[in-house]
Amino acid sequence: MKRIMKTRSLMLVLALLVLATGNALSQTAGNPVTDLLLSAWSPRNYTEVPVTDQQIDMIVQCGIKAPSSRNGQPWYFTVLKNEAVMKEIISNITPGNVIIIISGKVSQSGTTPDFDCGLATQNMFVAATSMDLGARIYGGPIAAARERQEALGIPEGYTPVMMLRVGNIEKSTDAVSGASPRKSKEELVNYVR
Ligand SMILES: Cc1cc2nc3c(=O)[nH]c(=O)nc-3n(C[C@H](O)[C@H](O)[C@H](O)COP(=O)(O)O)c2cc1C
Repeated sequence: MKRIMKTRSLMLVLALLVLATGNALSQTAGNPVTDLLLSAWSPRNYTEVPVTDQQIDMIVQCGIKAPSSRNGQPWYFTVLKNEAVMKEIISNITPGNVIIIISGKVSQSGTTPDFDCGLATQNMFVAATSMDLGARIYGGPIAAARERQEALGIPEGYTPVMMLRVGNIEKSTDAVSGASPRKSKEELVNYVR
């Protein structure tokens, strides 16, 4: 009995230690989420290795999981794999890439579909990057998607807001020098203490 209690106490101490270490780590380098956010970038060059359906499914699930105003989920996702149609929308698309079109529900007052679609887009960007894929958000060619709304099967009442290109990239590419620089914290942040 004594031995069982001793083992249990030891396990409790060990569990507390693991928790405490985890907490400390989460605020330093080594936190996989912050490390990923700080090293993510948007490639333009892709290989022709196709993105798998399993990968797409996980990415889309992460988009669906995004938060939205009043949990209204005012979005619709179109997974476009047809090479000819993809080329009509993003002219330099690489075979094997996928375009996910994020469409937003036409706005009623008090809702924020564009913002919510942005969150879903970013969730999918981060998910794809975490899966060792490349991802780039595209808003410039959105008119080409809007013109093809019916052919793309996007339901009435929704309009394409943003697109996410996903593909495989050369693993040797240096992500840090590939990313565009950002403005400094001093320039962008103020503190009211
Ligand atoms: C709302 C939005 C629209 C964008 N539209 C385009 C686009 O039309 N074409 C393009 O090449 N990149 C587009 N981008 C990608 C940005 O140029 C890219 O995220 C930015 O330059 C940062 O690059 P980095 O992630 O490599 O640091 C867009 C990004 C966002 C967030």
